[in-house]
Amino acid sequence: MNRSEELRQEIYERVGEFYRTAHSPETFVPGETLIHYAGRVYDERELIALVDASLDFWLTMGKNGAAFEETFAEYLGVSHVVMVNSGSSANLAAVATLCSPQIERPLRPGDEVITPAATFPTTVAPLVQNGLVPVFVDCEPGTYNADPGEVESAVSDRTRAILLPHMLGNSARMDRLLEIAEQHALYVVEDACEAMGSRFDGQMLGTFGHISTFSFYPSHHITTGEGGALATDDDVLARVARSIRDWGRDCWCDHRTQGRNGACGRRFSYEVPGLPTTYDHKYLYSNIGYNLRPTDLQAALGLVQMEKFPQFVEARKRNYNALYSGLSAFEEYLILPTSDPRAEVCWFAFPITVRDNPKFTRNDLVQWLEKARIETRFLMAGNITRQPGFSGIRHRTAGDLAHTDAVMRGAFLVGLYPGLDPQRLDYVLQQFEAFFDRIG
Ligand SMILES: Cc1ncc(COP(=O)(O)O)c(C=O)c1O
Repeated sequence: MNRSEELRQEIYERVGEFYRTAHSPETFVPGETLIHYAGRVYDERELIALVDASLDFWLTMGKNGAAFEETFAEYLGVSHVVMVNSGSSANLAAVATLCSPQIERPLRPGDEVITPAATFPTTVAPLVQNGLVPVFVDCEPGTYNADPGEVESAVSDRTRAILLPHMLGNSARMDRLLEIAEQHALYVVEDACEAMGSRFDGQMLGTFGHISTFSFYPSHHITTGEGGALATDDDVLARVARSIRDWGRDCWCDHRTQGRNGACGRRFSYEVPGLPTTYDHKYLYSNIGYNLRPTDLQAALGLVQMEKFPQFVEARKRNYNALYSGLSAFEEYLILPTSDPRAEVCWFAFPITVRDNPKFTRNDLVQWLEKARIETRFLMAGNITRQPGFSGIRHRTAGDLAHTDAVMRGAFLVGLYPGLDPQRLDYVLQQFEAFFDRIG
């Protein structure tokens, strides 16, 4: 071992000690300790991975980025993963990819994309940003996902794609939705930002559509801090998505060849129709791109989280079951989550809709829980067409969005992430019981 390797080992040991000293798990004090709706689950290994990547000082996407893309592709069983700096960036790059003239039948400004109105803002924003017209459909009560019947009746001769967020990790009814897509030759984008680890009919979500997206924000199933990814089996879509992530450049030299410019061997002999001379391929731009690249530190963190992911899935399922069985006593007042019998859901959080009733409102219940130090969140944007930033966008609405309005009026979620142990979950259930005892 040379001196710098010895120093690294010493640093790792000190970081481990620091973790055990400064980040040791909080002791739970009922009514005092905040019960988060979601959060990072980590130990000294994540801290060491981050420090290790900073000692490398590569900074931008490098060997860890490449390894993360490979690991994530292997986990999903897809040919290509493109890591980006957030789930929102993944959605932006996915939609921009479908608009690139480099793909077959690209989407054009004014084309329609069907998507549910119960959604996350940056699922819809890329449609607007790319001049496409969102066509909003209603969700199903309890699954919170696009109703396939509504999707089918929303199709027009301008419809070119369906963009499907799998809300809270619950699987949309992929068989029916894919049939509709095939019948009308529609592109399918799965927003699996909340749905890592979920399956439909045994198949992993994020592997059904032409392209899919993931988020690694700290509240999601694994975290890289900020971070996200696109996944696809299509070679052309992958290359375009990578170009859009990387400033729009045409060069596809593998970044694993760090520092080795021109791995294609044609860097200075690349001929472009219309250009009088060859041009450095690294500086050829074939798409209107962005810089959506993550750092190598984020990827280093993601690699450790991927190793822990199977345990995270088990914990989320266990916590979901505990909350479901405890809350089923209150179904008179609460709509509990439901899913297609073929869905195997790795829930993002536990969604609840308060039924319209004369005794209490959602806010009464939410405030009761918050006062008891139990964090709650509403279901993302509710009905996106009612959000101030979206009310003026060009769009079409199919149907009356009645279930989506019910979500905006009555839905909220509590946490089930792996950081919640049985003691905390019991406390959450006790607080629900206390609320219902009080209202009688
Ligand atoms: C369904 C959905 N899509 C997209 C995103 C955006 O991901 P990010 O926060 O990483 O930008 C989120 C984030 O929570 C989400 O829930």
